[in-house]
This record gives sequence, structure tokens and C-alpha cells, in this order.
Amino acid sequence: MQNLKVAIVGCGKVAGKHIKAINYFNKERKNTQFTLELIALIDPVEAAKEKIANLYKGKNKIAYYVDLNKFFLKENVDILAITTPSGLHYEQAKIALNNHCHILIEKPITLEENQAKELLDLAEKSQLKIAVGHIYRYFPLIKNLYQDLKSGKFGKPLFGNVQVRWGHDQAYYDQAAWRGTRKFDGGAIMNQSIHALDLMHALLGEPYLVSTKGAVTKQIHQMESEDLGYGIFEFENNIWLVLEGTTNTDPKRPEASFFVRYTQGEIRASLLAGKIKFSILNADGQELRNSYLMTEIKNRISDKGFSFLGQIGNPHTGIYLDLANAIVENSPIFADGESGLHALQMVLALYQDAGV
Ligand SMILES: NC(=O)c1ccc[n+]([C@@H]2O[C@H](COP(=O)([O-])OP(=O)(O)OC[C@H]3O[C@@H](n4cnc5c(N)ncnc54)[C@H](O)[C@@H]3O)[C@@H](O)[C@H]2O)c1
Repeated sequence: MQNLKVAIVGCGKVAGKHIKAINYFNKERKNTQFTLELIALIDPVEAAKEKIANLYKGKNKIAYYVDLNKFFLKENVDILAITTPSGLHYEQAKIALNNHCHILIEKPITLEENQAKELLDLAEKSQLKIAVGHIYRYFPLIKNLYQDLKSGKFGKPLFGNVQVRWGHDQAYYDQAAWRGTRKFDGGAIMNQSIHALDLMHALLGEPYLVSTKGAVTKQIHQMESEDLGYGIFEFENNIWLVLEGTTNTDPKRPEASFFVRYTQGEIRASLLAGKIKFSILNADGQELRNSYLMTEIKNRISDKGFSFLGQIGNPHTGIYLDLANAIVENSPIFADGESGLHALQMVLALYQDAGV
């Protein structure tokens, strides 16, 4: 059993989800060869660290740091979780990799393609792991579906369609100076829709991106970046994807819908105001939803025990599981650095065609 020491840089909203996952693995779990221990929090804001520390259920003492470089002068850690504003990911990830530390970096991996490629190279040369916070990959059924798609169960991917209507009011963008800026965040496409682009890319079999048409605009928010955008992506083998992404809808009714058509079946899923609907059809139009659900539940219980079912609502647990397994068993990470780079490339291609 290996105890992996974790530190978190950036103690804001998403860091709380990381703590929940670390709490889950703070004790030994069925079929895992690791435990996780939070040893330090790094953030210039003291109150932010206090808030996050209060969520941690481990018994050990947590050290506080204001600056990441100073942290690495004093401490050794196995995993650094980077949960700071997106424009800081690249510099902080580089510091971590140079200090021989594996990283779980929140989405988007970086804001520039060269930066992400540099991190991937650095990690490969140093034999370090990168996981990215693309949580949609860790929603129930997705890993099973992905394996079946890869084995050809649904034939060849043809096209996909995704809408992300993730309403945010002005107060969301006003809560911190970095939000909605090009340098530190991006808008509805870079911040919100990138999750859906990553998932659609996985469900389409992770094809190579050939060309992109994009349009973005700002309709109702006071911010630098877009609050509405459209993309048409053409991939190798004549595979296509259409995206609509916006934050200009009712914040109380967040909506995301996904459709993928294959030569031998289709997947349809939607989330509207917390209600999930989905359908998985085979070539004869037969509904496979219930059999997939049963398999998922059975696998989760037999692999990790009943307690893992309770983690369905926190997909970050799945990311920590993948990353820690990759460290102790050298297994693959579903949301790895490369998939994070591909999602970023799609956003940047859309932006470029839109003239941003
Ligand atoms: N995967 C997901 O589901 C998900 C959800 C929300 C946000 N995110 C991503 O997580 C990141 C953070 O988002 P958030 O909503 O938690 O933001 P936030 O503003 O709530 O938190 C950011 C924290 O970083 C701290 N910080 C700023 N500069 C710092 C520095 N130089 N060193 C250390 N700490 C610093 C701030 O004080 C703040 O506590 C973003 O990249 C965002 O895109 C991912």
C-alpha cells in the first residue's frame, strides 16, 4: 500500500470537489494499492485555505503556503492538484513537473496549445503523470461505452451534436477579476463547453481534427470573452461535430444535450435542471440503457465495493483513482494530458476561425 501525499494550489470552488475525492481515499479501499493524504494548501488568501482545510477529514496536520515555489523549497509531494484560475495552470504545472511531482490539473489544461505540448513533453521526459479535470469522462457508463466504441460494437462514428446551455448571471463573472478574461479564463466555450467537447471527442473515438468553423459573440454579459459560440468540427474519416455553447440561459436550468450517431447505433443524453435522460440504441434500434446501467452498477460494486456507488455524484473521485493507479501501477489515465490537449485544440481552432 502506497501513501500518496497531495497538495492543492488554489483553494476556491473546485478545490472542494478535490477534497471530497481525497477524503474518500484517505483510508484503504477495496482493490486499491494506495491511500491519499492532503499535506498542504497553497493560496495567497488565508480564509480560502481555512475553508478548504475544514472540509478535509484526514487526521494529519495540513501546512499552509502562500507561494508555490516556496512550498517546493520545503516539501515533497507525490501529486499537486492545480485548481487556480486557468491562466495560471501552465506556470504552476511547470513548477510542479520540474520538482518531480505528478499533477492533476483542472480544465482547461492551459490556455495555449504550445504550453500544453510543453507540459506533455516535460512529463514524458521525467516519467511523470498528468491528469486533467475533464470530469464528464467519469460520469457513469462513459468508460464502458468508450471501451465498447473502441472495440467496434457500434460500428464507425458518423457525427455528433452537442448543446451546452449553462446559464450564468453577471454575478458569476463579477465574483473574481479573472473570470471571463481572455488571459485567465475565456468564455462560454473555453470555460463551460470544453467539458462537452472533450466528452464528444471521446465518444467519436478521439479522431484527428481536420478543420473547424467557429463563431463567437457576446450578447448579455459584461466581460471580455464570449457568452455564445458555435463550432463545426471536421475530423479524419469524415466524422463531424456541431457545438452550441452559451451562458446566456436561465442559471436555474442548466442544460447539456449530446447526440452521437454511429453506423450501428446511437447515443443520446440530456441533462436539464438536474434531470438526466439517456438512451443507447444498437443497430436494430433496440434500447441498451438498462443493460448498461446494470453492468455499471455490478462493475462498480465488484471492483470497488458499495461505497464507490456513493461517489457517482463526485466524478473527481474517478480522476484521482485513475491518477493514483497510474502512479502505483503505471495504468492509463482516461482524462490524461493528451486528451486535455485535444479538447484545448478544438476550442482554440474554433476561436481562431471566429477571429478571436
Ligand atoms: N472540473 C470542473 O468541474 C471545474 C469546475 C469549476 C472550475 N474548474 C476549473 O478550476 C479552476 C479554478 O476554478 P474555481 O471556480 O475553483 O476558481 P476560484 O476563483 O473559486 O478559485 C481559485 C483560487 O485560486 C487562488 N489563487 C489565485 N492565484 C493564485 C496563485 N498564484 N497561487 C495560489 N492560489 C491562487 C484564489 O485565491 C482562489 O482561492 C479553473 O481553471 C476552472 O476552469 C473546473
